[in-house]
This record gives sequence, structure tokens and C-alpha cells, in this order.
Amino acid sequence: MPNFIDHLIEESKRFLNGRAQINDDIGQEAAKFVMREIPPSIGTFEKSNSPLIRWLEEAIQFGSSETEGLLKALKPVLPFLPWKYNYKPRPDMPDLGSRMGWGEILGPEAPFRDEHFCYGFTLLGKNTFYPAHYHPATELYIVLSGHAEWTLDGVTTVRHPGEFVLHPSNRIHSMRTTEEPLLALYTWSGEDVVTLSKYV
Ligand SMILES: [Fe+2]
Repeated sequence: MPNFIDHLIEESKRFLNGRAQINDDIGQEAAKFVMREIPPSIGTFEKSNSPLIRWLEEAIQFGSSETEGLLKALKPVLPFLPWKYNYKPRPDMPDLGSRMGWGEILGPEAPFRDEHFCYGFTLLGKNTFYPAHYHPATELYIVLSGHAEWTLDGVTTVRHPGEFVLHPSNRIHSMRTTEEPLLALYTWSGEDVVTLSKYV
């Protein structure tokens, strides 16, 4: 597994490095990950028993020529990511925890420990709504597979594989999938990457 993880991190950095050459908000955010030194892993990657793993096979089917290299590097790692959904339960949406979640590789509680930066992958099953939420961290997503509706500050856009999406600190955003699951790489940066999202 360690070799697969190292390869995935390398491929992720390579992908973001292309975008980091453009000096705008997204490029600067991408550069933070490219420049980040990855510490040695102190955790282990065990096969996940999260309910999310039922989506994995399908979740890599909706990439593009741009993202297929990264999806290929991700495929052997996906079942071993520490998939979780650790937000406060919502009585109105009791099945959220089995429909969406994230597997974090780098972060305050991830196998590669970093108190100030997160990197991982978010997964939404088909026909799933990730409700409006906000968090202090600045969030960068790269859509790897799946066409979903992404909403930021009330404006909704269908995002395609290969697109970068920036959610500045504490801005309200949501995602909705229909017939395709969504798999996306994410990073969190800023003063506070520990405070979890809050639903609106
Ligand atoms: Fe977010």
C-alpha cells in the first residue's frame, strides 16, 4: 500500500502543479499543496468497512481524458482510505453518512499528519445532496469523476471532470449528484483546518 499511496500523492501533485502555474486564487491554492512537504506516514491504511465502499467501483467510471491518470493512481488506494462522515447528524437526512464522506490522507487526524493542511478525496453516491454548509478552511476541489451540481453563494453550476472549484473561507456551498456519483480531490488550508463544516 505505501507505494500506491506515494504514487497517488505524486500524481496528485503533478495534476495540481499544472494549475499552480497560473497566478490566480485557484493557482495559489493549488501551489500550497504542490509545495507542501508530506511527512512520513504515522498511520496505517486498512481496508475500509465504510458503507461508502459500495460506490467505489462506479465512482471512477465518469472521469475524462484529463483525470484518467489520477483516477488510475487512485483506484488501488480507494478501498483503503479512512472513509468517514463525522458531521453532526441531521434528523431530516438520516442516511447522509452512508451516502457521502471523505477519505483523508493528509491532515490533523489523517495517516500523514499535518496540523495545518488537509488533502483527501470526497465521495458522493448517486442522487445525493450534500446540504449547504460552511467552514473556516479555504477549500479547493478538483472534480475527478462525475458531473454534479455545485452551488456557491446561491449560484449553481454543473462541474465537469478536470474542473477546479474554490470555496473561500466560510462561504456557503453545497453539491448535488444525480445519475453519476461524484469523486473529487480536496485540499483545506488556512488558519483553522480543524473546525468541521457546519450546516446552514
Ligand atoms: Fe466544503
